[in-house]
Amino acid sequence: MISYTILAIFFGLWYFFTKKSSVSKGLKPLPSPPGRFFYGNYPFLFRINKFMFIFKYLNTTNFLGHYGLLGSKPSETLTKWAHELNSEIYSIRMGRSNYIILNSDKIVEELYQKKGKIYSSRQNSYNFQHILGGVAISGCPYNDYYKKIKTIVGRLLTLQKINMHSSLIDRITNEGLSEINHSEPINPCLYIRRITLNIILDITVGSYTTSINDPLFIRLNNWMDGFISIFSNVDRKLDYFPILKYIPGNKIKKGTKALRDETESLFGEFLENVKSGRNRNPCAMREIYEQGELGDHEIIHNMAILTFAGTDTIASSIMWLLAHLANNPLLQEQAHKELNTFFPDH
Ligand code: HEM
Repeated sequence: MISYTILAIFFGLWYFFTKKSSVSKGLKPLPSPPGRFFYGNYPFLFRINKFMFIFKYLNTTNFLGHYGLLGSKPSETLTKWAHELNSEIYSIRMGRSNYIILNSDKIVEELYQKKGKIYSSRQNSYNFQHILGGVAISGCPYNDYYKKIKTIVGRLLTLQKINMHSSLIDRITNEGLSEINHSEPINPCLYIRRITLNIILDITVGSYTTSINDPLFIRLNNWMDGFISIFSNVDRKLDYFPILKYIPGNKIKKGTKALRDETESLFGEFLENVKSGRNRNPCAMREIYEQGELGDHEIIHNMAILTFAGTDTIASSIMWLLAHLANNPLLQEQAHKELNTFFPDH
Protein backbone atom coordinates (compact mmCIF):
# COMPACT_ATOMS: atom_id res chain seq x y z
CA MET A 1 0.00 0.00 0.00
CA ILE A 2 2.89 2.34 0.90
CA SER A 3 4.40 1.92 -2.56
CA TYR A 4 1.04 2.83 -4.17
CA THR A 5 0.84 5.91 -1.96
CA ILE A 6 4.37 6.95 -2.98
CA LEU A 7 3.47 6.31 -6.61
CA ALA A 8 0.29 8.38 -6.30
CA ILE A 9 2.18 11.26 -4.63
CA PHE A 10 4.90 11.15 -7.30
CA PHE A 11 2.42 11.27 -10.19
CA GLY A 12 0.32 13.86 -8.35
CA LEU A 13 3.38 16.13 -8.12
CA TRP A 14 4.33 15.36 -11.70
CA TYR A 15 0.81 16.33 -12.78
CA PHE A 16 0.94 19.51 -10.70
CA PHE A 17 4.22 20.64 -12.26
CA THR A 18 3.20 19.75 -15.80
CA LYS A 19 0.70 22.30 -16.97
CA LYS A 20 -2.37 21.26 -18.91
CA SER A 21 -2.67 22.35 -22.55
CA SER A 22 -5.74 24.40 -23.12
CA VAL A 23 -7.86 24.81 -26.21
CA SER A 24 -9.99 27.96 -26.14
CA LYS A 25 -13.72 27.38 -25.98
CA GLY A 26 -15.35 26.78 -29.34
CA LEU A 27 -12.06 25.81 -31.06
CA LYS A 28 -11.41 22.30 -32.31
CA PRO A 29 -8.26 20.66 -30.89
CA LEU A 30 -5.65 19.92 -33.56
CA PRO A 31 -5.21 16.34 -34.75
CA SER A 32 -2.49 14.50 -32.88
CA PRO A 33 -0.79 11.14 -33.41
CA PRO A 34 -1.45 8.41 -30.85
CA GLY A 35 1.03 8.31 -27.98
CA ARG A 36 2.38 5.48 -25.90
CA PHE A 37 3.19 4.99 -22.23
CA PHE A 38 0.92 7.36 -20.30
CA TYR A 39 -0.64 8.81 -23.40
CA GLY A 40 -4.26 7.90 -24.12
CA ASN A 41 -3.82 4.15 -24.02
CA TYR A 42 -5.76 3.18 -20.91
CA PRO A 43 -6.44 -0.50 -21.75
CA PHE A 44 -2.67 -1.05 -21.92
CA LEU A 45 -2.28 0.50 -18.48
CA PHE A 46 -5.13 -1.55 -17.05
CA ARG A 47 -3.32 -4.68 -18.07
CA ILE A 48 -0.23 -3.62 -16.09
CA ASN A 49 -1.97 -3.02 -12.82
CA LYS A 50 -5.54 -2.52 -11.72
CA PHE A 51 -4.54 0.51 -9.66
CA MET A 52 -3.49 2.31 -12.82
CA PHE A 53 -7.12 3.45 -13.18
CA ILE A 54 -5.82 6.61 -11.48
CA PHE A 55 -4.57 7.79 -14.88
CA LYS A 56 -8.09 7.76 -16.20
CA TYR A 57 -8.96 10.61 -13.85
CA LEU A 58 -5.80 12.61 -14.35
CA ASN A 59 -5.52 13.83 -17.93
CA THR A 60 -2.84 11.37 -19.02
CA THR A 61 -1.64 13.50 -21.92
CA ASN A 62 -0.05 15.69 -19.27
CA PHE A 63 2.53 13.13 -18.21
CA LEU A 64 4.80 12.24 -21.11
CA GLY A 65 2.84 13.12 -24.23
CA HIS A 66 4.88 12.05 -27.24
CA TYR A 67 8.16 12.30 -25.35
CA GLY A 68 10.46 9.41 -26.35
CA LEU A 69 8.49 8.56 -29.49
CA LEU A 70 10.42 10.61 -32.03
CA GLY A 71 13.24 8.04 -32.22
CA SER A 72 16.71 8.62 -33.62
CA LYS A 73 15.38 10.25 -36.81
CA PRO A 74 12.79 12.77 -35.56
CA SER A 75 12.19 14.35 -38.98
CA GLU A 76 11.20 10.94 -40.41
CA THR A 77 8.80 10.26 -37.53
CA LEU A 78 7.23 13.73 -37.88
CA THR A 79 6.79 13.16 -41.65
CA LYS A 80 5.27 9.72 -41.04
CA TRP A 81 2.78 11.23 -38.58
CA ALA A 82 1.90 13.98 -41.09
CA HIS A 83 1.07 11.30 -43.69
CA GLU A 84 -0.89 9.18 -41.21
CA LEU A 85 -2.94 12.15 -39.98
CA ASN A 86 -3.25 13.53 -43.52
CA SER A 87 -3.20 17.02 -42.09
CA GLU A 88 -1.09 20.07 -42.93
CA ILE A 89 -1.10 20.99 -39.24
CA TYR A 90 -1.03 18.78 -36.16
CA SER A 91 0.19 18.95 -32.60
CA ILE A 92 2.40 16.83 -30.40
CA ARG A 93 3.07 17.13 -26.74
CA MET A 94 6.41 16.79 -24.98
CA GLY A 95 5.69 16.85 -21.25
CA ARG A 96 4.34 20.32 -20.59
CA SER A 97 5.34 21.70 -24.01
CA ASN A 98 2.96 21.70 -26.91
CA TYR A 99 4.48 21.66 -30.40
CA ILE A 100 2.53 22.58 -33.52
CA ILE A 101 3.87 20.86 -36.63
CA LEU A 102 3.32 22.68 -39.95
CA ASN A 103 3.54 20.54 -43.08
CA SER A 104 3.05 22.86 -46.02
CA ASP A 105 4.53 26.14 -47.20
CA LYS A 106 0.95 27.49 -47.48
CA ILE A 107 0.27 27.10 -43.78
CA VAL A 108 3.73 28.41 -42.82
CA GLU A 109 3.02 31.55 -44.86
CA GLU A 110 -0.47 31.89 -43.32
CA LEU A 111 0.63 31.53 -39.69
CA TYR A 112 4.07 33.15 -39.76
CA GLN A 113 3.97 35.78 -42.48
CA LYS A 114 0.34 36.86 -42.57
CA LYS A 115 -0.65 36.30 -38.94
CA GLY A 116 2.76 36.21 -37.25
CA LYS A 117 1.77 38.85 -34.71
CA ILE A 118 -1.03 36.64 -33.40
CA TYR A 119 0.74 33.30 -33.52
CA SER A 120 4.29 34.14 -32.39
CA SER A 121 5.10 33.56 -28.76
CA ARG A 122 7.78 31.88 -26.69
CA GLN A 123 7.77 30.22 -23.31
CA ASN A 124 10.23 31.36 -20.69
CA SER A 125 12.41 28.29 -20.76
CA TYR A 126 14.62 26.92 -18.00
CA ASN A 127 17.47 26.56 -20.49
CA PHE A 128 17.17 30.22 -21.44
CA GLN A 129 17.21 31.36 -17.84
CA HIS A 130 20.01 29.10 -16.69
CA ILE A 131 22.37 28.71 -19.63
CA LEU A 132 22.00 32.06 -21.37
CA GLY A 133 21.80 33.94 -18.10
CA GLY A 134 18.29 35.19 -19.00
CA VAL A 135 19.78 37.98 -21.11
CA ALA A 136 20.24 36.61 -24.65
CA ILE A 137 18.07 37.42 -27.66
CA SER A 138 17.32 33.79 -28.51
CA GLY A 139 14.86 32.17 -26.15
CA CYS A 140 13.97 35.49 -24.52
CA PRO A 141 10.18 35.83 -24.08
CA TYR A 142 8.74 38.56 -26.33
CA ASN A 143 8.74 41.36 -23.74
CA ASP A 144 10.24 44.86 -23.43
CA TYR A 145 13.71 43.47 -22.69
CA TYR A 146 13.49 41.42 -25.91
CA LYS A 147 12.63 44.59 -27.90
CA LYS A 148 15.72 46.34 -26.49
CA ILE A 149 18.07 43.42 -27.22
CA LYS A 150 16.60 42.86 -30.68
CA THR A 151 17.28 46.48 -31.66
CA ILE A 152 20.88 46.31 -30.45
CA VAL A 153 21.67 42.86 -31.92
CA GLY A 154 19.78 43.69 -35.13
CA ARG A 155 22.16 46.62 -35.76
CA LEU A 156 25.10 44.18 -35.77
CA LEU A 157 23.78 41.99 -38.57
CA THR A 158 22.85 44.42 -41.34
CA LEU A 159 23.77 43.66 -44.96
CA GLN A 160 26.27 46.52 -44.86
CA LYS A 161 28.04 44.94 -41.86
CA ILE A 162 28.14 41.53 -43.54
CA ASN A 163 29.57 43.13 -46.72
CA MET A 164 32.38 44.60 -44.62
CA HIS A 165 33.44 41.04 -43.81
CA SER A 166 32.95 39.63 -47.32
CA SER A 167 36.60 39.36 -48.39
CA LEU A 168 37.44 37.61 -45.12
CA ILE A 169 34.46 35.27 -45.57
CA ASP A 170 35.79 34.38 -49.05
CA ARG A 171 39.26 33.74 -47.67
CA ILE A 172 37.97 31.54 -44.82
CA THR A 173 35.78 29.56 -47.22
CA ASN A 174 38.54 28.98 -49.78
CA GLU A 175 41.01 28.01 -47.07
CA GLY A 176 38.49 25.62 -45.49
CA LEU A 177 37.60 24.04 -48.82
CA SER A 178 41.24 23.40 -49.70
CA GLU A 179 41.57 21.57 -46.36
CA ILE A 180 38.73 19.21 -47.42
CA ASN A 181 40.38 18.53 -50.79
CA HIS A 182 41.97 15.20 -49.71
CA SER A 183 42.92 12.28 -51.91
CA GLU A 184 41.50 9.94 -49.23
CA PRO A 185 37.77 9.98 -48.37
CA ILE A 186 37.11 12.04 -45.21
CA ASN A 187 34.12 12.83 -43.02
CA PRO A 188 33.52 16.50 -43.90
CA CYS A 189 31.43 17.35 -40.79
CA LEU A 190 34.17 18.86 -38.62
CA TYR A 191 35.79 20.67 -41.54
CA ILE A 192 32.54 22.30 -42.62
CA ARG A 193 31.71 23.21 -39.04
CA ARG A 194 35.10 24.92 -38.77
CA ILE A 195 34.40 26.98 -41.93
CA THR A 196 31.01 28.20 -40.66
CA LEU A 197 32.39 28.69 -37.14
CA ASN A 198 35.32 30.76 -38.43
CA ILE A 199 32.98 33.02 -40.43
CA ILE A 200 30.64 33.78 -37.54
CA LEU A 201 33.48 33.88 -34.98
CA ASP A 202 35.19 36.54 -37.07
CA ILE A 203 31.96 38.57 -37.21
CA THR A 204 31.06 38.18 -33.52
CA VAL A 205 34.34 38.24 -31.61
CA GLY A 206 37.03 38.89 -34.26
CA SER A 207 38.68 35.54 -33.62
CA TYR A 208 39.75 32.56 -35.72
CA THR A 209 40.63 28.85 -35.44
CA THR A 210 43.55 27.49 -37.47
CA SER A 211 42.64 23.82 -37.98
CA ILE A 212 40.34 21.12 -36.60
CA ASN A 213 43.18 20.30 -34.16
CA ASP A 214 43.49 23.88 -32.90
CA PRO A 215 42.72 23.75 -29.11
CA LEU A 216 40.34 26.72 -29.57
CA PHE A 217 38.40 24.81 -32.25
CA ILE A 218 38.27 21.67 -30.08
CA ARG A 219 36.97 23.72 -27.15
CA LEU A 220 34.35 25.58 -29.21
CA ASN A 221 33.32 22.36 -30.94
CA ASN A 222 32.69 20.62 -27.60
CA TRP A 223 30.84 23.70 -26.33
CA MET A 224 28.65 23.59 -29.45
CA ASP A 225 27.87 19.87 -28.95
CA GLY A 226 26.89 20.61 -25.34
CA PHE A 227 24.50 23.31 -26.55
CA ILE A 228 22.98 21.07 -29.21
CA SER A 229 22.32 18.23 -26.77
CA ILE A 230 20.70 20.49 -24.15
CA PHE A 231 18.73 22.73 -26.54
CA SER A 232 17.55 19.94 -28.85
CA ASN A 233 13.77 20.04 -29.22
CA VAL A 234 13.76 16.25 -29.04
CA ASP A 235 15.06 16.17 -25.50
CA ARG A 236 14.71 19.40 -23.50
CA LYS A 237 13.98 17.39 -20.36
CA LEU A 238 14.01 20.28 -17.89
CA ASP A 239 11.59 22.35 -19.98
CA TYR A 240 9.29 19.39 -20.64
CA PHE A 241 9.31 18.01 -17.08
CA PRO A 242 10.08 20.92 -14.72
CA ILE A 243 9.67 18.67 -11.68
CA LEU A 244 13.03 17.05 -12.56
CA LYS A 245 14.90 20.16 -11.49
CA TYR A 246 13.87 19.55 -7.86
CA ILE A 247 15.55 16.15 -7.81
CA PRO A 248 18.80 16.51 -5.83
CA GLY A 249 22.05 15.72 -7.70
CA ASN A 250 20.21 15.95 -11.00
CA LYS A 251 22.70 15.27 -13.83
CA ILE A 252 20.94 17.43 -16.44
CA LYS A 253 20.92 20.40 -14.08
CA LYS A 254 24.65 19.91 -13.47
CA GLY A 255 25.12 19.74 -17.27
CA THR A 256 23.31 23.06 -17.79
CA LYS A 257 25.47 24.69 -15.11
CA ALA A 258 28.66 23.33 -16.69
CA LEU A 259 27.55 24.67 -20.07
CA ARG A 260 26.81 28.08 -18.64
CA ASP A 261 30.21 28.18 -16.88
CA GLU A 262 31.96 27.22 -20.13
CA THR A 263 29.97 29.85 -22.09
CA GLU A 264 30.99 32.54 -19.61
CA SER A 265 34.59 31.37 -19.52
CA LEU A 266 35.02 31.16 -23.33
CA PHE A 267 33.23 34.38 -24.24
CA GLY A 268 34.52 36.12 -21.10
CA GLU A 269 38.04 35.51 -22.45
CA PHE A 270 37.05 36.91 -25.85
CA LEU A 271 35.69 40.01 -24.11
CA GLU A 272 38.85 40.46 -22.01
CA ASN A 273 40.94 40.28 -25.20
CA VAL A 274 38.78 42.99 -26.80
CA LYS A 275 38.84 45.20 -23.69
CA SER A 276 42.59 44.89 -23.13
CA GLY A 277 43.39 45.58 -26.79
CA ARG A 278 45.01 42.13 -27.27
CA ASN A 279 42.37 41.63 -29.96
CA ARG A 280 42.05 44.74 -32.14
CA ASN A 281 40.01 43.18 -34.94
CA PRO A 282 36.74 44.94 -35.83
CA CYS A 283 33.88 42.74 -34.58
CA ALA A 284 30.36 42.86 -33.12
CA MET A 285 31.69 42.37 -29.57
CA ARG A 286 33.94 45.42 -29.86
CA GLU A 287 31.13 47.53 -31.35
CA ILE A 288 28.63 46.57 -28.67
CA TYR A 289 31.22 47.08 -25.90
CA GLU A 290 32.19 50.53 -27.17
CA GLN A 291 28.54 51.57 -27.49
CA GLY A 292 28.17 50.87 -23.77
CA GLU A 293 24.48 49.95 -24.01
CA LEU A 294 24.96 46.43 -22.61
CA GLY A 295 26.84 45.12 -19.57
CA ASP A 296 29.56 42.42 -19.78
CA HIS A 297 27.15 39.63 -18.88
CA GLU A 298 24.74 40.64 -21.66
CA ILE A 299 27.55 41.01 -24.21
CA ILE A 300 28.99 37.58 -23.36
CA HIS A 301 25.69 35.70 -23.66
CA ASN A 302 24.50 37.50 -26.79
CA MET A 303 27.79 36.95 -28.63
CA ALA A 304 27.73 33.30 -27.51
CA ILE A 305 24.22 32.72 -28.84
CA LEU A 306 24.98 34.46 -32.15
CA THR A 307 28.07 32.28 -32.57
CA PHE A 308 26.06 29.16 -31.82
CA ALA A 309 23.12 30.24 -34.04
CA GLY A 310 25.41 30.95 -36.99
CA THR A 311 27.52 27.78 -36.89
CA ASP A 312 25.70 24.47 -36.83
CA THR A 313 22.58 25.74 -38.63
CA ILE A 314 24.64 26.65 -41.69
CA ALA A 315 27.05 23.68 -41.35
CA SER A 316 24.21 21.15 -41.30
CA SER A 317 22.43 22.91 -44.20
CA ILE A 318 25.66 22.64 -46.25
CA MET A 319 26.12 19.00 -45.29
CA TRP A 320 22.58 18.13 -46.38
CA LEU A 321 23.17 20.01 -49.63
CA LEU A 322 26.40 18.06 -50.25
CA ALA A 323 24.71 14.75 -49.43
CA HIS A 324 21.86 15.46 -51.87
CA LEU A 325 24.22 16.64 -54.59
CA ALA A 326 26.43 13.56 -54.16
CA ASN A 327 23.38 11.33 -54.57
CA ASN A 328 21.88 13.23 -57.53
CA PRO A 329 24.45 13.59 -60.34
CA LEU A 330 21.86 15.32 -62.55
CA LEU A 331 21.27 18.04 -59.95
CA GLN A 332 25.02 18.35 -59.51
CA GLU A 333 25.38 19.02 -63.22
CA GLN A 334 22.58 21.63 -63.17
CA ALA A 335 24.11 23.37 -60.13
CA HIS A 336 27.47 23.43 -61.89
CA LYS A 337 25.93 25.00 -64.99
CA GLU A 338 24.23 27.68 -62.87
CA LEU A 339 27.49 28.47 -61.08
CA ASN A 340 29.29 28.79 -64.42
CA THR A 341 26.56 31.14 -65.66
CA PHE A 342 26.46 33.41 -62.63
CA PHE A 343 30.10 33.21 -61.52
CA PRO A 344 32.04 32.72 -64.78
CA ASP A 345 35.35 33.76 -63.18
CA HIS A 346 35.30 31.05 -60.47
C1 HEM B 1 20.09 27.58 -42.05
C2 HEM B 1 20.33 28.49 -41.16
C3 HEM B 1 19.47 28.84 -39.97
C4 HEM B 1 18.37 28.24 -39.47
C5 HEM B 1 17.65 27.00 -39.99
C6 HEM B 1 17.95 29.00 -38.31
C7 HEM B 1 16.85 28.71 -37.52
C8 HEM B 1 16.38 29.50 -36.51
C9 HEM B 1 15.17 29.27 -35.74
C10 HEM B 1 14.22 28.11 -35.93
C11 HEM B 1 15.06 30.26 -34.84
C12 HEM B 1 13.94 30.46 -33.82
C13 HEM B 1 14.34 29.89 -32.50
C14 HEM B 1 13.27 30.13 -31.43
O1 HEM B 1 12.58 31.17 -31.45
O2 HEM B 1 13.14 29.29 -30.54
C15 HEM B 1 16.19 31.13 -35.01
C16 HEM B 1 16.44 32.26 -34.25
C17 HEM B 1 17.56 33.00 -34.35
N1 HEM B 1 18.61 32.84 -35.22
FE1 HEM B 1 18.69 31.49 -36.70
N2 HEM B 1 18.83 30.04 -38.12
C18 HEM B 1 19.78 29.98 -39.11
C19 HEM B 1 20.87 30.80 -39.26
C20 HEM B 1 21.20 31.82 -38.41
C21 HEM B 1 22.40 32.66 -38.51
C22 HEM B 1 23.48 32.53 -39.57
C23 HEM B 1 22.35 33.53 -37.46
C24 HEM B 1 23.31 34.62 -37.03
C25 HEM B 1 24.35 34.96 -37.47
C26 HEM B 1 21.13 33.28 -36.73
C27 HEM B 1 20.73 33.99 -35.62
C28 HEM B 1 19.55 33.81 -34.98
C29 HEM B 1 19.09 34.64 -33.88
C30 HEM B 1 19.83 35.84 -33.30
C31 HEM B 1 17.85 34.14 -33.48
C32 HEM B 1 16.96 34.69 -32.38
C33 HEM B 1 16.05 35.71 -33.05
C34 HEM B 1 15.01 36.28 -32.14
O3 HEM B 1 14.61 35.63 -31.19
O4 HEM B 1 14.56 37.41 -32.43
N3 HEM B 1 20.46 32.24 -37.32
N4 HEM B 1 16.98 30.66 -36.03
